[in-house]
Amino acid sequence: MSTQNSTAFLVAPSILSADFAHLADQIHAVEIAGADWVHVDVMDGHFVPNLTMGPPVVKSIRAVTKLPLDCHLMVDHPERLLKPFAEAGADRITIHVEASCDISGCLKEIRNLGMKAGITLRPATPVEAIFPHLHLVDLVLIMTVNPGFGGQKFMPEQVAKIGRVRRELTRLSSHALIEVDGGVTPETAVLLREADVLVAGTAVFKQKDLSRAIRALKDAKA
Ligand code: DX5
Ligand code: ZN
Repeated sequence: MSTQNSTAFLVAPSILSADFAHLADQIHAVEIAGADWVHVDVMDGHFVPNLTMGPPVVKSIRAVTKLPLDCHLMVDHPERLLKPFAEAGADRITIHVEASCDISGCLKEIRNLGMKAGITLRPATPVEAIFPHLHLVDLVLIMTVNPGFGGQKFMPEQVAKIGRVRRELTRLSSHALIEVDGGVTPETAVLLREADVLVAGTAVFKQKDLSRAIRALKDAKA
């Protein structure tokens, strides 16, 4: 399936910005508002200073939505978590190229467990670092903030990585999707038209009208 849909972005609201006391309601609300995936930010307190959620939360979310669960693992040792996330009902797992594991081995394992595999990198990491792994992925996530927290400022100098990845994927005849995460708003999204999927926490969950917020992000592609 072609990834370069010029009509609209897919939108993956990040539940990091949701109200955790009402998580089921919040996910239901974005589902009704037109979200395509649910983005789950997993942080271990080591790879990044923040600590968030793991497989038990994914299992609970799985029970309340049919949307694909797009899990972004900001952890040192993803290899320990792949099976638990698969069993909890994750659809996609994205790992960091800077993680302390056998990256290619983890990507293969994610697919063997029946999930889609993604790779991502910190803003300071050169994009070439992920190139040796691109033949093993269904998704490339470009970070436009330093991983760890929602609500940070978009880093425009990261945008050039999207075109570099797109060209490399084309060279490999890969149909992997390109997703962007961090500081994404309808204004910054217009810089991201070569991408396919937008992650947005603040620009969705902190807005009053969720349908309007998601529509504005989708339409930024046109
Ligand atoms: C940051 C996370 C993001 C974060 C995005 O480490 O990977 O997914 O939730 O939040 P916003 O959209 O507020 O920048
Ligand atoms: Zn994320």
